[in-house]
Amino acid sequence: MALEARVSGAARIGATVMSKEAFGRSGGRSAGYAAACVGSVLALLAVAVSADPPPPARVPQTGLPKPRAITFKVAPVAGASWLTHLHISFDATSMGRMGENTPPPTVRYEPKWNELAGSEDLNERFVLAGSDLYRLDCESCHQPDGRGSPPEIHSLIEPMQATSAAFLEQRMKAAGRPITSAMAKEMAAGGDAAIRNRLKNGGEKMPPFEHLEGEEVEALLAFLRQLAGIPGAEREQIRIVEPYTRVGEHLVKGTCHICHPATGPGTDPEALLRNVLPSLASFPRDRTIFQVMKKARVGAPIEMGRLRQPSGGRMPVFSYLTDDEVAAAYLYLIIYPPRQ
Ligand code: HEC
Ligand code: HEC
Repeated sequence: MALEARVSGAARIGATVMSKEAFGRSGGRSAGYAAACVGSVLALLAVAVSADPPPPARVPQTGLPKPRAITFKVAPVAGASWLTHLHISFDATSMGRMGENTPPPTVRYEPKWNELAGSEDLNERFVLAGSDLYRLDCESCHQPDGRGSPPEIHSLIEPMQATSAAFLEQRMKAAGRPITSAMAKEMAAGGDAAIRNRLKNGGEKMPPFEHLEGEEVEALLAFLRQLAGIPGAEREQIRIVEPYTRVGEHLVKGTCHICHPATGPGTDPEALLRNVLPSLASFPRDRTIFQVMKKARVGAPIEMGRLRQPSGGRMPVFSYLTDDEVAAAYLYLIIYPPRQ
């Protein structure tokens, strides 16, 4: 009881410093993110002790499509990393490596403590578009433009174009082999089914995305149609309201788990030489939320080898993520502890 009282007190303090701007993914990347994180750590304590469902999110109305609210079943990340599962060495693949060749950041990473936009709402949520789901779940392999890294990682542009009857009809006509609308529709339906099947079951080297729910799949596919240049796709975009633990789940399962195992030891300078990477479970145990945000978004040096030599590290930098998203991943790992 005493603990609960302390925790909810802390949560109230957390809530007041938690920035709506920073935690709502409504644009401002830097505004009060540090405060948002502190707020969320405290908020998380409250979530951990109360099983009540969070109140419905308040979403500001703008010209964008109205976000859809769904209830999510968040589940912990489990098992070996995807690369270990495939028996592929970390050095022998392009998977998860998007961003590796981007130049080093020129700005110093400096948390901002001011600009606090107070929020009373402990369950401040994210509003995600299909493009956000793409960043969290697909981009580290498929690149921002969806072209992947052939021959290992196929482009998803052509398979997406093959889900549009109008696109197929036009293309076949241009190739001098016109098809009927009915035939184009049938082919497009087959293309659509193939993509949905791939998301559910994965491919030869591509992981399955079982955690994606119905509306998320629709939002993601709507964005992929736009990415593939299908006319009118920009008018069909969907936005979804998601709790931060769900955002964390996307990032952890869609990106970090490609290389990092769910459970196991933390960073070991000697083991790093043998490509034994720290477990996801070790992040909130051994590192602060700021260290993890920095490592993921701008990169941070590590110690490697028997002599603990300083090294720039080999982890790619995911500069296309926001601090809030990495913070959400950190909190997800605490609230839903990884399983073996
Ligand atoms: C860990 C890396 C990885 C991630 C993450 C990933 N993919 Fe893939 N994807 C692949 C690889 C590798 C292929 C090539 C086929 C194979 O080996 O399965 C592929 C192929 C594809 C294809 C083309 C299939 C074809 O017919 O050629 C589509 C479409 C696709 N991915 C969609 C997605 C979407 C959507 C996401 C995000 C939800 C995603 N992928 C996330 C690795 C990945
Ligand atoms: C392509 C593989 C790959 C992916 C994907 C990846 N990492 Fe890493 N990560 C590494 C490697 C390799 C190391 C070991 C240190 C180094 O070489 O930089 C590492 C180390 C770390 C460390 C420990 C740093 C330290 O100080 O000991 C953290 C924290 C971390 N990663 C967070 C993340 C997060 C968060 C994600 C997802 C957003 C992620 N990683 C995705 C490869 C990856």
